[in-house]
Amino acid sequence: MISRNILSYIGVVALTCYVAYATDPTQLQDFCVGVNDPTDALFVNGMFCKNPMEAKPEDFFLSGLDKPGNTDNRVGSNVTQATATQLAGLNTLGISLVRIDFRPHGGLNPPHTHPRATELLTVIEGTLYVGFITSNLPNGENKLFTKVLNKGDVFVFPQGLIHFQINIGKTPAIAIAGLSSQNPGVVTIGNAMFGAKPPISVDVLSKAFQLDEKTVKHLQAQFWISP
Ligand SMILES: *[C@@H]1O[C@H](CO)[C@@H](O)[C@H](O)[C@H]1NC(C)=O
Repeated sequence: MISRNILSYIGVVALTCYVAYATDPTQLQDFCVGVNDPTDALFVNGMFCKNPMEAKPEDFFLSGLDKPGNTDNRVGSNVTQATATQLAGLNTLGISLVRIDFRPHGGLNPPHTHPRATELLTVIEGTLYVGFITSNLPNGENKLFTKVLNKGDVFVFPQGLIHFQINIGKTPAIAIAGLSSQNPGVVTIGNAMFGAKPPISVDVLSKAFQLDEKTVKHLQAQFWISP
């Protein structure tokens, strides 16, 4: 009996650890500037950490978010990132930032999810129509939440949920978004489904999306870009 209790206790602890590792770890020191060469590293918490005695102000600094990304692409948007990849000082801190530019008349940040982050977006210029879709509800439905955002408006996209933004104005739009991970990750839905390499079987996609084989092959033949 006692050993069974111990086993279930170990199970709960293991599960808790698993859940904890599915998100950014709680930081164990003031900071942990990322280094690319593990031989330069002292501690590991997220990326390898630089010796804190050797950290410099530049490790916590990034410039260039005043510059628009080039939106001359198929979707008409561009995401400029400030994650731990671009800003090594973010390592272990559980936060990052992006600038999103949208072309006038329909520049789209296509439906996507961030597996590791909630996103808090504010509009700096222009007018966006934004939305997210819930996970499958007990009644089998997926509820859509949308809003038109003007300059200064703020909207939150909960972690892991599919969301999008489109410029419904006549001028370029700019948004800045904070994300609750140093490495939020992006899954662009269309790209993942129809642009996967190697391709997902036509049978799987035609059943899943209720499409005929020809339409699936047409979609798979498109050039899928991620802004
Ligand atoms: C986004 O803009 C940058 C900077 O202009 C450019 O290098 C990059 O190719 C653009 N990305 C896409 C997907 O258009």
